Amino acid sequence: MKFVSFKSCTAAKIIFPFCSLFLAVASYARDLTGNWVVRNPQPDGTSRDTYLDLQQEGSKVTGHIRVTQFYYSIVESSGGPDGFLLTGSMMDGHNERRVKYEVKLVGGELHVSTLRRPDTELIEMVAHPAPPGEGALPSRLPLPELHAVPDNGLARTPPMGWNSWNKFAGKVDDAAVRAMADAMASNGMKEAGYEYVNIDDTWEGGRDAQGNITSNKKFPDMKALADYVHRKGLKIGIYSSPGPNTCAGYEGSFGHEEQDAKAYAAWGIDYLKYDWCGARTLYTDEEMQAIYQKMGDALLKSGRPILYSLCQYGRAEVWKWGAAVGGNAWRTTGDIRDSWDSMTKIGFAQGEFAAFASPGHWNDPDMLEIGNGGMNEDEYKTHMTLWAILAAPLLAGNDLREMAPGIAAILTNKEVIAIDQDKEGKQGRQVSKSGEQEIWARPLSGNEQAVALFNRGTEAAEITVLWTDLGLKSAPAHIRDLWAQTEGRLDGGKYTRMVPAHGVVLLRLRSN
Ligand code: GLA
Repeated sequence: MKFVSFKSCTAAKIIFPFCSLFLAVASYARDLTGNWVVRNPQPDGTSRDTYLDLQQEGSKVTGHIRVTQFYYSIVESSGGPDGFLLTGSMMDGHNERRVKYEVKLVGGELHVSTLRRPDTELIEMVAHPAPPGEGALPSRLPLPELHAVPDNGLARTPPMGWNSWNKFAGKVDDAAVRAMADAMASNGMKEAGYEYVNIDDTWEGGRDAQGNITSNKKFPDMKALADYVHRKGLKIGIYSSPGPNTCAGYEGSFGHEEQDAKAYAAWGIDYLKYDWCGARTLYTDEEMQAIYQKMGDALLKSGRPILYSLCQYGRAEVWKWGAAVGGNAWRTTGDIRDSWDSMTKIGFAQGEFAAFASPGHWNDPDMLEIGNGGMNEDEYKTHMTLWAILAAPLLAGNDLREMAPGIAAILTNKEVIAIDQDKEGKQGRQVSKSGEQEIWARPLSGNEQAVALFNRGTEAAEITVLWTDLGLKSAPAHIRDLWAQTEGRLDGGKYTRMVPAHGVVLLRLRSN
């Protein structure tokens, strides 16, 4: 019986898991035993490599497959004269991840193919022999005892700024960061309160002989870049992971926490986003707190005030311990996408974390997508309003050089920003819900309140707020519509407005 390859599977549009059923064991391919590497050099001077460390005994292949941040043990293998199908498995928190690789010896090369998901293109690669041990996962390091990391005194209101990931992803470079700083300093954003210019993943190079972290070719001089951003009256942020690799497969801070924190301080970095990523291959979710504490301590020891932003997708109930590890913000969710569904799924599910937000310590439902093109202006107003009601960090994620006036107006509406930045730092909650219409309220300092009338439906709808639902005995003395920038009319015990499809009316109420 013939080895049925991924190729014939995809061609025949047979879904992937069935392919393995057609595999038969006959005479076996030549011995695959060895450490194999697929090198994938990048223009930034780094390399995203895949390792297959294999041992073959007859029909059985065991070993490991390392795909940058992921490290799989081979749990199933089946093969025939034309090659093998290998199944790799790893635990990611409480979930299992599985991959399948088809491997075949051709001369001295190992031809490898895989499907990332059953519905994606076949990825074909060629692996060559690598020295034994290269690419092996480092051993776990002992966990520190838990203790309370002192508060760094930063982020008394939710951080505001820009982050490179949503728009630039792997394409961010020194020039883009300078351009964003230029734009932010001159387009009204700085004046509106935006402050941090944050470099996300893919800036990392490797380590020098002393283990110091280096930046890659896209970032020739981090200190010079930080100086540039500071000269604009702004602050600069950077990104790393507690694992050996970041999510994009770049160098992480594993085992170098203090050294990296010192490097950031020496460059003049003001903000660190610390992303679980490759740490999942070494540690369990229950061990996250100790791992995040390590960097919390290291940042304090660095001698420079560095805002500490945790990114571990809201796992292990981070809102309960984020502040104890020195965190100023912690992600409560997986990654946002520039779509109405993604944004609302995340934003409207944040109410349960409200009690855990306070000055210096914020729930983070992920960065803004405003201006990236996947939503209309009413939807982006809903995004901005919801994040303001949630006391969320406001990190713009668009290209600040090319903003339509409507988008700039949404990002820089000072009255909406004032809701987000209210100094009491109390996160808002849902007050009532009727079908696809929801009313959320946020208590503000001075006994004021922000009230948002959200219409999640696809038709315009009337929404009525009852003063009693907001804990008020009578109509507030002042009511201001923060998007229309008008004073509203008061009407007995309730207030009614027509709200556009996927839109919002945001009100600020004052009682005297
Ligand atoms: C994860 C994070 C994102 C971004 C990418 C970078 O997915 O959640 O916000 O930082 O990694 O690789």
